[in-house]
Amino acid sequence: MSNSGEAQLLHTFKGIPFTTRSSPELLKSLDTFDAREDDVLLVSYPKSGTHWLAGVITKLYNTQVTITSPIEFGDISQLEKLNKLSTKRIIPTHLDYNMLPPNFKNKKCKMIYISRNPKDTAVSMFHYYRDNPNLPTVDIWATFFDLFLTGDVVCGSWFDHFLSWEEHKDEQNILFLFYEDMKKDLPKVVKEITLFLSLNVSDSDIQDICEKSSFSEMKNDTEKENSDPSHTVCALTSNRKLIFRKGAVGDWKNYFTSKQNIKFQEIFNEKMKLSKM
Ligand code: A3P
Repeated sequence: MSNSGEAQLLHTFKGIPFTTRSSPELLKSLDTFDAREDDVLLVSYPKSGTHWLAGVITKLYNTQVTITSPIEFGDISQLEKLNKLSTKRIIPTHLDYNMLPPNFKNKKCKMIYISRNPKDTAVSMFHYYRDNPNLPTVDIWATFFDLFLTGDVVCGSWFDHFLSWEEHKDEQNILFLFYEDMKKDLPKVVKEITLFLSLNVSDSDIQDICEKSSFSEMKNDTEKENSDPSHTVCALTSNRKLIFRKGAVGDWKNYFTSKQNIKFQEIFNEKMKLSKM
């Protein structure tokens, strides 16, 4: 990290680095947060396609729903705001499973976890670190690569995050999605989401929603401010313009050296030994 002042952008709670946009008081209060049975959680490690998924999901409902701010964002007053919301809540979060308010688990709220190839996630996060003033500056890819692998980044280790959720992937109220599947066949994934959320959406509406959710459409909407540029579903920024960078699969090949790829693969194989996916 470039200077000690920037270190203050992060603080650690239960061993996981958060930005100061998540106050310690709020994080402490999450354990007693009151969930509603019809809450839907949108869960991800940062840079996995959260905004894409959120964009799709909001278009699927024909009743009033609110994509709230991420549950770990802000100070304690944010939780009061969430409590007061009268519409159905779609709540984004980057929390790992162990930190999720227990009430969501007890009430079996529906949760959608989106994951992405960690190599592309790392590259996307590297750019986020460079562009986002709420994150420490890491200018050199090689430096960021090491931080990512050791989990010394905001939201902690990708591996721990993924594994904490994967352990629950067979629970009926949890749907696991992959960014790469959305790139390959978005209508198929959207259909899966509608079944999971018990929403009745016609195939032609799904097609329409997919077209409106393409990378170029979503980026244009943000640039033309057709969507609120100061509303994100990521606790790390409120600037929507920082989200839509490249939207590609395999960009990691432009950054990883072959030595880095071998190192990543070794650590991946070791950490993911317990993974069934
Ligand atoms: P890149 O930085 O690789 O471009 P998140 O929403 O979790 O912060 O993830 C952001 C990543 O998702 C960025 O990846 C962004 O470009 C990509 N993304 C956002 N909308 C997308 C879309 N409609 N299609 C494909 N990728 C999208």
